[in-house]
Amino acid sequence: MTTVIDVQGVSKQFKIHHERHQSLKERLLHPKSGSTEVFHALADINFSVASGETVGIVGHNGSGKSTLLKCICGVLQPTSGDIRIRGNLAALLELGAGFQPELSGRDNVFLYGAMLGFSRRMVDEIFDDIVAFSEIGHFIDTQVKFYSSGMYVRLAFAVAVNVDPDILVVDEVLAVGDERFQAKCIDRIRRFQEEGRSILLVTHNADQVRSLCNRAIALDGGLMIADGPTQDSLRIFREHLLEDSVELDRSGAQANVSIDAITTPSGTFDVKSGASMHFDVDVTSHGAYSGNFVMEIFTRSGMLISRNDAQGSPVNLKPGSNRIGVDLAQIPLLDGVYDVNVGIVEHQRNTVIAWREQAASIQVSYGGREGGIVELGASIRQA
Ligand SMILES: Nc1ncnc2c1ncn2[C@@H]1O[C@H](COP(=O)(O)OP(=O)(O)OP(=O)(O)O)[C@@H](O)[C@H]1O
Ligand SMILES: [Mg+2]
Repeated sequence: MTTVIDVQGVSKQFKIHHERHQSLKERLLHPKSGSTEVFHALADINFSVASGETVGIVGHNGSGKSTLLKCICGVLQPTSGDIRIRGNLAALLELGAGFQPELSGRDNVFLYGAMLGFSRRMVDEIFDDIVAFSEIGHFIDTQVKFYSSGMYVRLAFAVAVNVDPDILVVDEVLAVGDERFQAKCIDRIRRFQEEGRSILLVTHNADQVRSLCNRAIALDGGLMIADGPTQDSLRIFREHLLEDSVELDRSGAQANVSIDAITTPSGTFDVKSGASMHFDVDVTSHGAYSGNFVMEIFTRSGMLISRNDAQGSPVNLKPGSNRIGVDLAQIPLLDGVYDVNVGIVEHQRNTVIAWREQAASIQVSYGGREGGIVELGASIRQA
């Protein structure tokens, strides 16, 4: 397979200047005053993307995701390292990057097209499709600075997907549009996947990464902490989060919590479709702790089937061993293997304090004849 994005040893440093003198006069009198701090936004990033691959990039705020995408798109120059791109690349960078605020939507579309090497005639040909996809209507002739963030994203996405790129780079922006438009974008992304194009996707939505990406890269503080199958990268990323919160915990008097085991009374996670199920989650806590229990069930293809109501699932951990019982009244799933993630989220800071990705796999067997993933118990009769 061909490599379409090759990132070798990429680092990006920003110089941040701290002023010691406040007033303009003082700054003019002491131009060299203040100090310059070098900030490492990316450190030695290495990975490549093959044609047809969809790769997710996850990380906290400030971990370097947007900086990485900007380097890949050529908006920023890496301080060191090398980036090679093969094919046309269309990018949907974070809000504010890309369009000229003083120009109308129409002019921006032509400008963007020109940047990608499209002639005016070629942009003319796809212009109506762009406007139609964006659903921007007559606002296409309004200056972009008056657009709402949703309108901005709709137009930017419409441009990016209509210029026939080999590589699509999307930074977070999918979260901005309303749900219907998001669904439309996801649909379009799936079509791109079927057409064998390559996609690089930054999102904070773990479900989106799971359902769209077969591979994910996790960044933390400018370092690449994981690159591999989505489930693995998300697990590593979450475990990293836990380490961070343990750091915080040491400074406060907080506990440090781990999920040790998940077991069933019968010792097996094999169930019949429609049956109830009970399992126990053993948790060790160093300190008293209150949080909410979270359980997610996924298909093997990464589709979230269910997440419990965490708000309605408070747990109070005591120091030492704790056992949390989970009752599933009825499992309406059809034949298949379903992965279970469990975790505990802390109330106030809304941080994950313990997490086990793929803590268990439920094997469901089904004797009936319905198809799909859930049993609805449909009965059909002619009226
Ligand atoms: N032009 C710049 N000058 C100085 N520092 C910058 C600049 N651009 C980004 N940074 C810093 O680099 C770090 C990484 O920023 P980046 O925008 O890449 O993070 P991110 O992972 O995209 O975060 P978010 O999830 O909030 O979008 C941040 O600490 C940010 O403050
Ligand atoms: Mg960002």
